[in-house]
Amino acid sequence: MRKQFVAGNWKMYKTVPEAVSLARELAAALPRDPGRRVMVAPAFTALSAVRDALKGSAVLLGAQNCAQEPEGAHTGEVSLRMLRDVGASIVILGHSERRHVYGEGDVLVNRKIRLALKEGFEAILCVGETLEQRQSGITEQVVGDQVRSGLKDVSSADMARVTIAYEPVWAIGTGKNATPQDADAVHGYVRGLIAQLYGSTAAEAVIIQYGGSVKPENAAELLKMAHIDGALVGGASLKAESFLSIVRAGK
Ligand code: PGA
Repeated sequence: MRKQFVAGNWKMYKTVPEAVSLARELAAALPRDPGRRVMVAPAFTALSAVRDALKGSAVLLGAQNCAQEPEGAHTGEVSLRMLRDVGASIVILGHSERRHVYGEGDVLVNRKIRLALKEGFEAILCVGETLEQRQSGITEQVVGDQVRSGLKDVSSADMARVTIAYEPVWAIGTGKNATPQDADAVHGYVRGLIAQLYGSTAAEAVIIQYGGSVKPENAAELLKMAHIDGALVGGASLKAESFLSIVRAGK
């Protein structure tokens, strides 16, 4: 039985005091074992303070990105070792904003995934098609290529620390979510691909989150689908009330 995993991606929002206040609200509202996994990913600047605010709660701390090298002369980058130092244990990689706004390609995403796993992190690998790709009927091909190349040279043992987030690009921050049936079909396709790559036990175990305009109003119907094991939430994770209602909406 897969344990539901809901993650909040705070993107480039919230100063340190704002982030701490939201983290405190979440920590106070969620019991120590909420029966599901819950994560928040604040901006780098707020990680350390949010770690302190979450202390004693079950809420996990994630980062939104990491550097492609363990350390070195990389102005403006943040290494995995630095992220671990401020309490992060999970890293979101290949988010569509990184792919489309900052030009991160599959090779770079794979490099970061392998490095994160090597450093002992869990990784959330984000994949998803653009509207044009969906309309051309190549969603599975695009998502399949992103999954295959994102996981290149990732061992079966390390795969246990990978979550996949299916986030159709056209649904992110637009208010337009995929229908539960359309999303579930892609999730099922991804699970089948994981079965081909890693076997049926790994495919049964892998958590596949849906992301893209998840809100309290649509969370329950998305999360009840067979292959949707959680959510990666942007906008609606910025307020405790809406994020908590998504966390509580699941199976
Ligand atoms: P959204 O963002 O919930 O605001 O659409 C999701 C994401 O980018 O992970």
